[in-house]
Amino acid sequence: MNVPFLDFTRLAAKEREVMLAAFERVHASGRYILGAEVEAFEAGFAAFAGAPHAVGCASGTDALTLALRALGVLPGDDVLTVSMTCAPTATAIVNAGARPVFVDVDPVSLTMDPDRLGEALTPRTRAVLPVHLYGRPAPMEAISAFARERGLLVVEDCAQAHGARLAGRNVGSYGDAAAWSFYPTKNLGALGDGGLVTVRERSVAGRLRRLRMYGYTARNDAVETGFNSRLDELQAAILRVRLARLAEGNRRRSCLAARYDAALAGLPGFEPPPRPAPGAEPCHHLYVVRSARRDALRERLLGRGIGSDVHYPVAVHQQPAFSAFPRGPLPATERAVAEVLSLPLYPGLSDAEAEAVAAAVREETTALAG
Ligand SMILES: Cc1ncc(COP(=O)(O)O)c(C=O)c1O
Repeated sequence: MNVPFLDFTRLAAKEREVMLAAFERVHASGRYILGAEVEAFEAGFAAFAGAPHAVGCASGTDALTLALRALGVLPGDDVLTVSMTCAPTATAIVNAGARPVFVDVDPVSLTMDPDRLGEALTPRTRAVLPVHLYGRPAPMEAISAFARERGLLVVEDCAQAHGARLAGRNVGSYGDAAAWSFYPTKNLGALGDGGLVTVRERSVAGRLRRLRMYGYTARNDAVETGFNSRLDELQAAILRVRLARLAEGNRRRSCLAARYDAALAGLPGFEPPPRPAPGAEPCHHLYVVRSARRDALRERLLGRGIGSDVHYPVAVHQQPAFSAFPRGPLPATERAVAEVLSLPLYPGLSDAEAEAVAAAVREETTALAG
């Protein structure tokens, strides 16, 4: 059985009518930038995330940059973050004028290790930026406590975590701000780029609205230099349709993940998926397993028609643009990037496909071990 890693066309067929209606509504409205659709989506997303304010913008990368800028991070400041993520997490810090300082992840959960934060502090540290990787919440209680004791800001990278919860609270509600991506592959994806920042403080929300639109308080009144980082009306209308179906999609992801968990348990030579922090309820953005023979396993799966992907084959600090930024030892990160393998996981995947993937993983892992 051929199983693609991701197949958007399955969803396209199911949502055709509602998407066309959303398109027609925007087209007929004559308003294409920052209008009623963006406002309605922001309100809907704020309610979903349990956040007082939500401000849409052009991408998840911009959401992180805008959040840092709006909270007052300045050029020359340091931001503690992880290298076990994709480059935009660190790019956004640089775009805000600050410097990423990389700390290692916990070897089991693959999220920021709060015990590594102390040794990474510098005199210019202003903020901590953890990532809820693969939809698994980072240990926010420990991270927030660390930040609070030292007067640091906390910005959560929620690009992969729409609907994840920790200790009964939504991710994004722990930090001073949280950044969300609506890149098409995300649990809540647009038909293009989109992003959003959720924040607690009304004044920060106001500054975010200003920064996303040239620094304007009113038309032709730029009180600071900003960006052009707006969420389109069309993407907002599409995201409203998909937000209404997000919980259902997340439930399906959770069923598929449980199926994989059961089918892959106890496989020799094969590590179970990274375990989330205690009390975490992941939203199963990606189903990631680990194998010391990752590349060979991936090749063998491909030979059987099973798609997979690697998130991420290189850590951020191993990429040329980021190799000169400060970092402590990153052994857990460097080991993880050599071993992680993402299996197909999306709401349109059938039970039979998930069973076929799991059976192929079992057989090929056993063959590689033998
Ligand atoms: C963890 C993480 N942070 C940031 C981003 C950046 O989001 P975007 O592609 O919308 O700019 C992504 C997604 O691509 C991501 O997965």
